[in-house]
Amino acid sequence: MRLTDRPTWKALLAHSRAMGESRIADLFARDPQRAQAFSLESCGILFDYSKNPVSAETRQLLVALAEDAGVPALMAAMFEGRRINVTENRAVLHIALRNRSSRPIMVDGQDVMPGIRAILERMRGMAERIRGGIAKGSTGRAFTDIVNIGIGGSDLGPLMVTTALRPFGSPGLRAHFVSNVDGAHLAATLTGLDPETTLFIVSSKTFTTQETLTNARSAREWLLTKLSAKAPAAILVEHHFAAVSTNLEATAAFGIIPERVFGFWDWVGGRYSLWSAIGLPIALAIGFDRFEALLAGAFEMDEHFRNTPLAHNLPAMAALVGLWHIDFLGRPTHAVLPYAQDLLYLPAFLQQLDMESNGKRVDRSGTPTNYLTGPVIWGAPGTNGQHAFFQHLHQGTQVTPADFIVAANASDTLPGHNELLLANCIAQTEALLRGKSADEVRAELKARGMRGEELEQLTPHRVFPGNRPSNTIVLKQLDPRSLGALIAFYEHKVFVQGAIWNINSFDQWGVELGKQLAGGVLEDLKAGKPGPGHDPSTQRLIQHVLDQQVKGDR
Ligand code: F6P
Repeated sequence: MRLTDRPTWKALLAHSRAMGESRIADLFARDPQRAQAFSLESCGILFDYSKNPVSAETRQLLVALAEDAGVPALMAAMFEGRRINVTENRAVLHIALRNRSSRPIMVDGQDVMPGIRAILERMRGMAERIRGGIAKGSTGRAFTDIVNIGIGGSDLGPLMVTTALRPFGSPGLRAHFVSNVDGAHLAATLTGLDPETTLFIVSSKTFTTQETLTNARSAREWLLTKLSAKAPAAILVEHHFAAVSTNLEATAAFGIIPERVFGFWDWVGGRYSLWSAIGLPIALAIGFDRFEALLAGAFEMDEHFRNTPLAHNLPAMAALVGLWHIDFLGRPTHAVLPYAQDLLYLPAFLQQLDMESNGKRVDRSGTPTNYLTGPVIWGAPGTNGQHAFFQHLHQGTQVTPADFIVAANASDTLPGHNELLLANCIAQTEALLRGKSADEVRAELKARGMRGEELEQLTPHRVFPGNRPSNTIVLKQLDPRSLGALIAFYEHKVFVQGAIWNINSFDQWGVELGKQLAGGVLEDLKAGKPGPGHDPSTQRLIQHVLDQQVKGDR
């Protein structure tokens, strides 16, 4: 039966008409316990979704939909290692990477845990040797800089986590991340780095990604040019390059020695891979024990997710409230607003996690969906966003549900900053909910001495409609454990939504066409003229770029 034909979907549709009219403030007025009743706490995270147009009936209907759509069954299938990534015929087992229990996890009758533990031990060894200055560069000096070369999941996870855990990093070992094929990214990163003390980690699940291989080759060239007088090329690559990949043949062909290659498995999706050896830069930056704390936080969330009834389940309720907005209230975008500068890259990370997972238009059987699926995810840290796009959140014509994320305790001790940060975060959710009526605006303006036409003209511009939804997510502190739990929370949120929409959240065919066509355009650029088969705009753009290029640049 199609999702939209299910009685549980239809019940929500009918209910949405009634709820669409109600104001969130009235829901609070009717239920003095609402703040508690619509908040959940687990794994060191408070998830307050009370500032959404959701009643007890809404929750019950949403949970009924999730059960009806088979969320518990798909969840069990994932944890059991079944091949739920149907278009690639793969299991989905990022949860195994952080399985801190002694439970085996089987794929095709084989326990994957011994292999995972072996790689983790090798990561520990590498982290200890590099951080302790035991493993050295080709000229005998300890490493001071690590450059991760990767893109997508092989970049965003380690970049986001390493940045988020900045206070736990060691000043003697700086982590850099190069992803963009724009040479400016690598060039800017290498400026000021000492090749003798720089270690490159080439991170690519496939080791075929054009951007990563181009950057890796250029980095190797830079190293060989700078140090050619000091050692032969093979020795330089041996000392200064490591790789994380499932393609061991390609890493060997690049010249990286097996002891410096960390494998992982096809059942780890790129955007779910930071828990694997793709997390090596994290372990190098913050130390392996803290990397393990990150895994432990995620494991705690996994246990909560698989063992908690949906109505009390943090990721499940986040998913259901999100889906309510998207499919029943017509709000297809979602803002991620971390009130933590160190979470700078969280919106970009979640963009890939959510939009690459659930940006799908056909269901698991290949039938186009007749309902909206994954939201547009966007955002930036507060308080910066307040001085940029919050205008739109408060007074724009579109309603954007938002996640406000904040830690009660600051990572830094500069006096006065954390109170300001917390006050702004909490006050923004209050302002979005409460709004400001025309009467309130008039009273304020009158108190300032304004009267008559001027007052009436200004009033509508200063009115806030309010009733704008938000979730607030509070951590005690932004540390490895709570960050692990927070990331797993979002991974499972995406899982639950994808399960209800009956889409495959674990493939990404939508990224292929652009890659394929880039090959053709590249040939045209190299040939110096557009080839046949392009649409007129593309043809003209190729010609224009060629005309604009300074001779000798190609
Ligand atoms: O192009 C999309 C994608 O395949 C992502 O899913 C992935 O995270 C990224 O490219 C990088 O892939 P790889 O790790 O194989 O280089």
